[in-house]
Amino acid sequence: MTQYVAAIDQGTTSTRCMIFDHSGRVVSVDQKEHEQIFPKAGWVEHNPMEVWQNTRQVAAGALAKADLSTSDIAAVGITNQRETAVVWDKNTGEPVYNAIVWQDTRTDKIVQELGALGGGQERYRPKVGLPLATYFSGPKVRWILDNVEGAREKAEAGDLLFGNMDTWVLWNMTGGTDGGVHVTDPTNASRTMLMDLDTLQWDSGIAADMGIPMSMLPEIRSSSEVYGQVRERGALAGVAIAGILGDQQAATFGQACLSPGEAKNTYGTGNFMLLNTGTEKVMSENGLLTTVCYKIGDAAPVYALEGSIAVTGSLVQWLRDNLGMIGSAAEIEEHARSVEDNGGAYFVPAFSGLFAPYWRSDARGAIVGLTRFVNKGHLARAVLEATAFQTREVLDAMNADSGVDLTALKVDGGMVVNELLMQFQADILGVPVIRPVVAETTALGAAYAAGLAVGFWKTEDEIRENWAQDKQWEPQMDEARRTSEYANWKKAVTKTFDWVE
Ligand code: G3P
Repeated sequence: MTQYVAAIDQGTTSTRCMIFDHSGRVVSVDQKEHEQIFPKAGWVEHNPMEVWQNTRQVAAGALAKADLSTSDIAAVGITNQRETAVVWDKNTGEPVYNAIVWQDTRTDKIVQELGALGGGQERYRPKVGLPLATYFSGPKVRWILDNVEGAREKAEAGDLLFGNMDTWVLWNMTGGTDGGVHVTDPTNASRTMLMDLDTLQWDSGIAADMGIPMSMLPEIRSSSEVYGQVRERGALAGVAIAGILGDQQAATFGQACLSPGEAKNTYGTGNFMLLNTGTEKVMSENGLLTTVCYKIGDAAPVYALEGSIAVTGSLVQWLRDNLGMIGSAAEIEEHARSVEDNGGAYFVPAFSGLFAPYWRSDARGAIVGLTRFVNKGHLARAVLEATAFQTREVLDAMNADSGVDLTALKVDGGMVVNELLMQFQADILGVPVIRPVVAETTALGAAYAAGLAVGFWKTEDEIRENWAQDKQWEPQMDEARRTSEYANWKKAVTKTFDWVE
């Protein structure tokens, strides 16, 4: 009997395969990091071939670690870093350029030109729920077609395919040049700026504006159905691939935020808060995105409001890799605990401009409030606090848009092991912060989507029943301090604007 479901989580820094049992507990994990390529200031790339090789390795690794074989796996789901764009030749399977990562700001000019066609930054929002920004995939595809020699001709001849990482992994897993399935789901498609949120189909007018031939675009199917079987001879051969969810939507699903009004916040490379708004599509007036949360088989799509923050966990990595200030990400908490507070320092990590609620691609990072008093411990605190302050800004926007104040925040992702950050988060929000037992909810959500499609799990109620709380942090900071710290942060943010022409 097949007792498990697998999930491939193709993230920004690594690719993982996780295997779950029926109660939603992790049975096995294998993970591999891939190279972060920074060719110029503001540019971020990944090598799609490296990512694909890592995917194969971690799938085999996860099975081997738990001594499982392919016949133990009922289905596999895919979840992924969203917006990152890959363009490849369907005849050779070779990418024509590296994947342009969601954090990359090179499309700034393209985005401005599109806005200048009329409507400015809000030009496509009524259709796609997103402001024009470098974050999304469509302009990245345009950049590749404009800048890679011969790419446009090939695209127009129907030889090139576009996909986000879900589509790239799925196409390769299902055979690549030998019958690979070219499909995505609405959660990923809703991050391209090319999908109509009502019809869940590509909008040919927007594609024409961006100069993207429709033949490049994958078919949009639901988030939970069988797309094909793994065609490889190795690990998972023959297993049905039955779920696709963008990683943040997957985490929302894995956190069992399945009713309108339920929200989660994931602390990864960046932070992403999603509020389930049910089958109603709520347009933001406070700098949030409207996105598809999930679409399970033939059921109506469920929408979400999202607050995306580009840099949170990656700021800790930056401290480790670019400054060498810490040896490992875990060390940051130790340094932060060596001092009482931030010593007056605030760090606004606008490395990719600022996302929600500002959408300022002209912003660049700043550390303000420095005096000779400030030491390594204060900076470590300022780094962690940046995550919490940015989350407060998003939560405020969420409350304003929905008209209802969230009374608690469910959290997950890598940084939620940091107790100091979680306490400060509760302090600065003024509401409790709740961590579930399975904090790796991204992979779990993709596993749920795949398992539902093949009857491994029968109903969404089973998902609700599997959710269990691990720990809750209560706000302890007094109101006056909360107000003044947040005011200082807001002032620091204003120092990051207007750095790019
Ligand atoms: O929108 C970008 C997001 O999907 C990336 O998530 O966890 O890889 O930082 P993560």
